[in-house]
Amino acid sequence: MKKTKATKLMDAIASLCKRRGFIFQSSDIYGGIAGFWDYGPLGTELKRNIRESWWKSIVQTHENVVGLDSSIIMHPRVWEASGHIGGFSDPMVDCKSCKKRFKADGLCEEQGEDLITTEKGFALPENIKCPNCGSRELTEPRDFDLMFKTFIGPVEDDSARAYLRPETAQGIFTQFSNVLATSRQKIPFGIAQIGKAFRNEINPRNFTFRSREFEQMELEFFVEPGTSEKWHTYWLEERLKWYEKVGLSSDNIHKDVHPKDKLAHYATACVDVAYDFPFGRQELEGVAARGCFDLTQHQECSGKSLEYTDQETNERYIPHVIEPSAGVDRIALALICEAYHVEWLPKKNDSGLEPLEAEPGLRAPDGYEERTVLRFAPTIAPIKVAVFPLLKNKPELVSKARELFEQLQAIWPCFWDQTGAIGRRYRRQDEIGTPYAVTIDFDTLEDNTITLRERDSMKQIRVPINELISILSEKLK
Ligand code: GLY
Repeated sequence: MKKTKATKLMDAIASLCKRRGFIFQSSDIYGGIAGFWDYGPLGTELKRNIRESWWKSIVQTHENVVGLDSSIIMHPRVWEASGHIGGFSDPMVDCKSCKKRFKADGLCEEQGEDLITTEKGFALPENIKCPNCGSRELTEPRDFDLMFKTFIGPVEDDSARAYLRPETAQGIFTQFSNVLATSRQKIPFGIAQIGKAFRNEINPRNFTFRSREFEQMELEFFVEPGTSEKWHTYWLEERLKWYEKVGLSSDNIHKDVHPKDKLAHYATACVDVAYDFPFGRQELEGVAARGCFDLTQHQECSGKSLEYTDQETNERYIPHVIEPSAGVDRIALALICEAYHVEWLPKKNDSGLEPLEAEPGLRAPDGYEERTVLRFAPTIAPIKVAVFPLLKNKPELVSKARELFEQLQAIWPCFWDQTGAIGRRYRRQDEIGTPYAVTIDFDTLEDNTITLRERDSMKQIRVPINELISILSEKLK
C-alpha cells in the first residue's frame, strides 16, 4: 500500500523518537507489545515538564485546588457505582473473513451510516463492509469490556476480582470527604491528580495516541448547583491558555462541542480540546460538566453521606463537578508533532539559495543540507542548555567548559558533548530540541566570553561568562 504524506511524517517522527531516546516500544527486545510504550531519557524529561507545567497552572496557582495521589487498584464496588462495570464497553464487530475487529459505531460512521439500536443492543445496517478486506460477512455487534481485570490475593475467583483503574477521577470522588475534612477548603474547590490509567483498547493506533496504558491529568472541581456553566467556561478558557503556553499553536487547537445525544453517561456537557495531528484532528482533553452524578452514585453505593454543608447559609447539597481531563501521552505526542521540522538549508551562506521546508521522505536538493529540529518551547524542552568545549584534546578548554557545565547543571537539565565537529554537535542538539548551546573556545581563555547559539535562528552571540546565567534565565522563562 502506498504511504500517504501523513503516514510518512508519522513514520519519521516515530523514528526520531526511537533514535534519540524519546519513546520506545514496551518490551522492545521481545518484539514489543501492542498499545504499550516506554519513554526514554528525553521522553521522560518531556513528560516531567508537561506534568510540572500542568500542576503549576492547576494546583500551585489556584489556592482552591489541592492534589491527590490515589491507588490504581480500588474497591471493585467503585466501578459499579461509577457505571464502568456493565457500562464501560464498546460494541464491536468481527470480520468473519479476515478476522479483524472494529468498533461498530466508528465503522458505521466511516461508511456514512448509523449504528442501529435494538431492544437487545445494537445491529449493523445492511451495507456495511469490512474496511480491511471488503467482506460483508461481519458478526453482529457484541460488547467488549474495556477494563483490565486482575485478582487480589492468591485465589483467582470472582470474590477476588479487581480492576486497573480506567480513569483517575474515581480516586478523587471517593476521597472527596477526607480531602474536604483535612484541607479546610470550601466550595468552590478542586482536587487534582496525575496518574496512570488503563483501558483495554481494541485497536491501539497512531503511535502513542491510543494506548492501553496511559497517563491522565485530571481536575475535579466541585461547585454549587446552578453554577456549573460559569465554571465550565472558566476551566475551558484556562486550559486553552495553557495549551498555547506550552507551545501548541492556536491554529492547531480546536474546541469540539459534544452534541447532547453523544455525551458520556456521566456528563451533562462536554467540550473536547482537539489537536490537528498529522493523522487527523483528535482529542487531547475533555472538559466535562459531570453534574452530581459521581458523588450521588458513591453516596448511594457506599451508604456514606457525601453532602456538603455551606457554613454560612447552612444549605446542604451534593456538589456538581467540572472536570478537565487531559492525556499526558497525547499532549507529549502533540508537542513533538508541533515541534518537528525538517529544513533544507543552503550549504554555503553566499550561495544565494533560500532555506526550504523539507518534503517528508525526499532528499535535500543539490546545494542544500538537511536539518531536523524540534522547536520546543523552552519550558517544555527536555534539555535546556548544551555545553561544548571547542576541542576535546585541549585540557584547558575542557576544564573551563566543565566548570561552567557544573554550574549550569545545578539550575537546568544540561547536556555535555565534546565529541565531533562543532556543527555536528549543534545539529544533534537541534534534533532533540535544546534551545541553547554554549561553546567554550580559545577566546574564552583570553577574555572570559563564550559563544551562545540559539536553536531556531542558529544565530550566535558572544556573551561574558559571568552574565550567562542571568541571560539564560531571561531567555528560558
Ligand atoms: N475522567 C474522564 C475520562 O477518563 O475520560
